[in-house]
Amino acid sequence: MLVIRIYLLICTAVVASTVSQPKRRNINEYNRPCLLAEFGATAKCYLQNTHLICDSGFSSDWIKGVHNEITQLTVLKWPGQCLNVGRLEQYFPRLLQLEIINSTRLDTFKGHFSSNSKIEKLLFRGLMSLWELPPDVIGQMQNLHELDLRHNVLRHMRPRLLRNPPSLNNVYLSENKWDCSDGGLDWLAMERENGTTRKRITDYKQLMCHQQLYRGKPLHRVMDIIKMVRAKCPVPCSCAMTHVVSNRAGDIIPLITVDCSNRNLSSPPTNLPPSTSTLKLEGNKINSVRLILQNLQYRKIADLYLDNNSIPSVKELEASEWFSSFRVLSLRGNLIKQIPVYAFDKAFQSNNNIMHVFLGNNPWRCDCHYTPRFQALLLKYKRVIRDLSDIRCSKSEDSVTSLAQISAISLGNICGPENVMPISTVDIVNLVLVFLILLVVGRFIYDWHNFKATGKLPWISSVLP
Ligand SMILES: *[C@@H]1O[C@H](CO)[C@@H](O)[C@H](O)[C@H]1NC(C)=O
Ligand SMILES: *[C@@H]1O[C@H](CO)[C@@H](O)[C@H](O)[C@H]1NC(C)=O
Ligand SMILES: *[C@@H]1O[C@H](CO)[C@@H](O)[C@H](O)[C@H]1NC(C)=O
Repeated sequence: MLVIRIYLLICTAVVASTVSQPKRRNINEYNRPCLLAEFGATAKCYLQNTHLICDSGFSSDWIKGVHNEITQLTVLKWPGQCLNVGRLEQYFPRLLQLEIINSTRLDTFKGHFSSNSKIEKLLFRGLMSLWELPPDVIGQMQNLHELDLRHNVLRHMRPRLLRNPPSLNNVYLSENKWDCSDGGLDWLAMERENGTTRKRITDYKQLMCHQQLYRGKPLHRVMDIIKMVRAKCPVPCSCAMTHVVSNRAGDIIPLITVDCSNRNLSSPPTNLPPSTSTLKLEGNKINSVRLILQNLQYRKIADLYLDNNSIPSVKELEASEWFSSFRVLSLRGNLIKQIPVYAFDKAFQSNNNIMHVFLGNNPWRCDCHYTPRFQALLLKYKRVIRDLSDIRCSKSEDSVTSLAQISAISLGNICGPENVMPISTVDIVNLVLVFLILLVVGRFIYDWHNFKATGKLPWISSVLP
């Protein structure tokens, strides 16, 4: 026991140290002063006319004094995580063009380009650790016309990045890893087509989404969908795209979840975004499924959650087409006493999409007339009906049925012994016949005794000829 405990202790210590090590190293990296001179020993710089190319750092003679003669600078394979662009501008104040290329560890910038910057063209490429270019780095650049950020791993972008530099008109953003899923680019969806920011992105139509849901989908299509969903979302509800699929023609089909739960609604929203696949209406005051089944916009809903409402009956489901095509239906926590068992059986059987049905926490009727059929349904579809343990008889005085789990209840308890073996008409006829036979035999024995004792013939033999 002790050995095991010591072993476990050692294991935890080892795990803890391996987990915390990279973190500690990172903190040290960030604490380093972000110096341009840092990699001077191994750096190589070349000059081509007024174009300076510095590979793997800056050699020391280029980062002292002021180099007014340099108009173009290429920073190749900067080895650090941080680059001090504020200082860079001080050494090269006449730069017109700056390129930062293949600096695979670079993820932070120190300082920012000032409003005196002459730089007209900025190109970042092959920065394999930079997820976002902070807007403040370039925000004040008065002369910046062109921003080329192609072939990086950018995921996010804030609107200020493209809005602030006043002369910016050519922005290239393709070949990045844009994350269209997390809401970080939703502002772009809401930009008007002729809005300034949107117009500045020269290759807007070529941008692709890379993360999660939208991997490999054109960003502009995803943005159009996000915009549509925002515009069509019914008022007290919130809408989110939970999935995207493409059809054969390559069109993107969004699957939208409309969440209207706990909104105090007494009826479902009348309009839904097209291709709503999940509707959540839990915790409202809805008392009928009629409006849901009648509304044509609800036809495509696969998953419908109606938990914790005040629905007393779902008879209307019987006649609806939706009922034989849905995927998930949750009716937990309503006022349902009974369901049309036959219709449910029929619909479940013909429904190829059905995955889950929840019926728990309703005041179910329990009696001999209803429960046997209902129990049979529950057991037949126990792989679909997912909350059998919550499907219980309503609370009542009857200690046997009150809150009993219906799928497990013994029918004898519900129907009672006399009902379990009911007396049929054939049995009654048989009983009557037995009675009559006993009567005849009894009379015969009585007459025979009487004859032996008194010698009198029974009355019947005196009548017979
Ligand atoms: C940057 O790296 C890529 C891929 O490793 C390489 O193809 C390209 O030539 C490099 N660019 C420069 C300017 O070194
Ligand atoms: C946007 O520009 C296009 C053509 O460039 C024009 O047809 C359209 O009407 C403009 N839309 C708005 C809202 O200004
Ligand atoms: C329904 O109400 C019960 C009890 O108040 C609560 O525990 C449950 O989380 C609710 N369900 C939903 C889906 O809101």
